Amino acid sequence: MVGSKRLDLLGKGVFARNDLRKQKYKSSRYKNKTLPLIDLSLGSTDLLPPSVVLQAINQSLLKPDSSSYCLHAATRPFREAVTAWSEKRFGVRVDPDKEVLLLVGSQEGTAHLPLALMNPGDSGLILDPSYPSHKGGLVLADAHIERLLIKPDDGWKPDFSSLTKTQWDQLKMMVFGYPHNPTAVVGSQSWLQEAMDFGVNHQVVIAHDNPYVDLALEGDAPALLLCDGWKECGIEFFSFSKAWSMGGFRLAFAIGAEPLVTALRNIKSVVDFNQSLALQSGAIAALSKAIDWPNNVIEIYKDRRDRAIDLLENIGWKVPVPSMAFYLWMPIPSWAKSRGWGDESLSSKLLKDTGVSLTPGSGFGVGGEGWLRLALVRPVDELEEAIARIASWWNAHS
Ligand SMILES: Cc1ncc(COP(=O)(O)O)c(C=O)c1O
Repeated sequence: MVGSKRLDLLGKGVFARNDLRKQKYKSSRYKNKTLPLIDLSLGSTDLLPPSVVLQAINQSLLKPDSSSYCLHAATRPFREAVTAWSEKRFGVRVDPDKEVLLLVGSQEGTAHLPLALMNPGDSGLILDPSYPSHKGGLVLADAHIERLLIKPDDGWKPDFSSLTKTQWDQLKMMVFGYPHNPTAVVGSQSWLQEAMDFGVNHQVVIAHDNPYVDLALEGDAPALLLCDGWKECGIEFFSFSKAWSMGGFRLAFAIGAEPLVTALRNIKSVVDFNQSLALQSGAIAALSKAIDWPNNVIEIYKDRRDRAIDLLENIGWKVPVPSMAFYLWMPIPSWAKSRGWGDESLSSKLLKDTGVSLTPGSGFGVGGEGWLRLALVRPVDELEEAIARIASWWNAHS
């Protein structure tokens, strides 16, 4: 049998499983092949990046440097742009040489960080449910994984006090992120500060995955950079994928305590040579010339959220109103449960019968069982069409 034990432990991720199902659907194996697929399963948006970003990339593409390998030193203009952004966005001054690192997506950063910090068997904590690369990175590092279950009754707030002192002392790192995917809650600065305080007291690295920092629909998104203690043992991951709609370009960055940034950079130096200078010039344009762009995007997602929630309510599907952009986190209806359908079988049936693809919550951990995630990544008319299809299906089955 080809493949490591590690590969077995990773399993087939929720997005890969869904991809197969969508492929099957598209290759016309099912009776309702005439309905085109409406894919609401990935946080991959239909929106375009700001035109200043595309122009900057376009202009740089023809420069020979853009086709060259890009070693760390050459990323300095990008790191300086991050420094200026951090100062403007959070009022926090960071060192572009020691505390900033370019990434090939924040997923890449969270997946590689444990390799830089953990010895085999060291304990790492993740929230459950959480974004798959949080667990995946720990698996790659042969770490022992602890899970902190977050629950709807607590508003998805982590209860750090449920961990014993011994558990905290054994932990080497903790990965989490608010605004939170998949539960679509913004969270609060005090939750992060609590985590950071535990981190400082017990010498645990706090890694905060924050690609949605500019996409709070209600209230302010928290940031680890605003917590006391991050310069000691904190690292935060930001991304261009969501607020600037640049997911396919694979651009993100980490800001963190110098030893953590250095350790991650050393791991990455084995793996990649950084993104092309052309892509970096797009990222610089986003940070410097389109810093307020996310405000436009927020309005679009708010509209989509409100319309989708209303339409779902009309068919009797009560969905909590999300406080962040991008997702609805939908409890599976009780009539579906009483038929013995879980989130995975319900999402399969929905795809097969309606052509609408949603993500089963259990793909994000056991804490996501019984939930479906709908990504608001299509225009309102397509969301209306998707929910109209779900409505007919709902009426026929409930
Ligand atoms: C919490 C979280 N982290 C990371 C990512 C991946 O972001 P990136 O495109 O920067 O790798 C996503 C994408 O959905 C996400 O929700």
